[in-house]
Amino acid sequence: MRAHSEKELEVKLIERGQGHVLDWLRQLDAKPRRRLLDQLNELNLKKLDTFRNLIGAPPAGISFSDVEGAPVERVPLTPKEKAYEWHIKKLGNRILQADRVAVLTVAGGHGTRLVGYDHPKGMYPISPIRGASLFQLFAEQIQAARRRYDCSVPWLIMTSETNDCETRQYFQDMDYFGLGRRTVRFFVQNSNPILDSQGRLLRCEPDRLLVGPDGHGGVFEALREGDLIPFLREGGWDIISYFQVDNPLVTAIDPRFLGHHLNYDADFSLKVIPKRSPGEKLGVVVLRAGRPHVIEYIEMPEDVASERLPSGLLRFLYGSIAIHIISVPFIERVAAEDDVLPWHMAKRQYEIINEDGEKVMSQPGECLKFERFVFDALELSHACEFVEVRREMEFAPVKQAQGQNSPATARRLLQRQWIEWLQQAGAEVETPKDLSEPLVEISPLYAASPEELRAKIQPGWLPSFPLLLAPEE
Ligand code: UD1
Repeated sequence: MRAHSEKELEVKLIERGQGHVLDWLRQLDAKPRRRLLDQLNELNLKKLDTFRNLIGAPPAGISFSDVEGAPVERVPLTPKEKAYEWHIKKLGNRILQADRVAVLTVAGGHGTRLVGYDHPKGMYPISPIRGASLFQLFAEQIQAARRRYDCSVPWLIMTSETNDCETRQYFQDMDYFGLGRRTVRFFVQNSNPILDSQGRLLRCEPDRLLVGPDGHGGVFEALREGDLIPFLREGGWDIISYFQVDNPLVTAIDPRFLGHHLNYDADFSLKVIPKRSPGEKLGVVVLRAGRPHVIEYIEMPEDVASERLPSGLLRFLYGSIAIHIISVPFIERVAAEDDVLPWHMAKRQYEIINEDGEKVMSQPGECLKFERFVFDALELSHACEFVEVRREMEFAPVKQAQGQNSPATARRLLQRQWIEWLQQAGAEVETPKDLSEPLVEISPLYAASPEELRAKIQPGWLPSFPLLLAPEE
């Protein structure tokens, strides 16, 4: 982007209702003034205009007259369905053996709800006995898949301006968990200015604009700008297994899911679960005017979320757990077009510099954040597949410090899954009533599924607790 002269910049800012920024500049000494000017020069004015227009004319709420629940590939129950799934899984295995799959984790969010933890969320020590981080659990799954399928599975990690350095440093300190540094690729998503309700720029420091990551929908632009599309193409990885950094129960590489994606010739697939309650904070999968779509929970009016069919089931039952398979040619197509994904505006609270130059907490909802969502790309897909999975096997998100979706609930769910694996593998274990204490942990490097565990333990084995099954150092 060409740097504007100061005069040009002044004009452009005034034209966009940002005259107050000139006062900020006047009050700063040379060095901080330069810093702020540099940041202003880097602003994407086209995007700033778009955001200001959005504030002036926010989109109308969704009309649900042409919206219906999306068809879903159900969890197999009958022998016939199970036989079909076996064939699907084999297809997934073949794709992995052909080394066509890369993993992508979006880890650029601010994680503001995980109060008290001031580092990138992926570094959070989540496993019950070892205290392994979210990143470590994913890394071990990737390592296990590389061995199992004899493939290379590169790992792409999207960070943002605020957590990129610390994330990279962490991986370096952990020696990339043995994955090999060249096979772990970081790329940084863009940031957007956060505005007040009049569309005016805000500051987080006297010489720094308040900005925030541009949403996980920024992944397309960021992959393009990070030159990762040629990397994928040259390596022959044409399928991406995508998931959020917040879910330690994710099956990072899942042959069943891959198989469905390929079998349907889809370019975007999503894992879904039945919502536990109408108000559960999951984006729901629907057909809107016949096209696949995810309606984010904040855009779902309460009365619509609670509507039930004559069968008693929720009209909009299935929610996305934000685990996707995305084909690389589709990513290329979306990334090549600017501005195809809509912007969403969210009201938030941040620390800002007020008119008297003091750092204060803004009013709740006073600051407007602009984000794109990866699942809005569904509208552009030629074919997409919604695949149902079992909640207890796939979804334990760490969203907030306490209560539901907290580290404590995630640890309980991880332990429950490992106990079930032990039972399925033939060990003599009862499911304990209280799973809140550290009791059991199975590293993916020891066994990444009940089948792998069965090959390692004797039927009738009576383990003692706490039990850690991990490869010897
Ligand atoms: C998200 C989904 C929701 C889904 C639910 C499942 C959105 C908007 N909604 O809700 O449909 O049902 O998860 O758990 O995502 N991230 C970035 N960059 C960003 C913003 C987010 O990488 O700019 C990453 C975060 O690191 C996090 C993930 O995206 O891993 C989810 O973001 P968050 O804002 O926490 O979404 P939820 O409201 O939990």
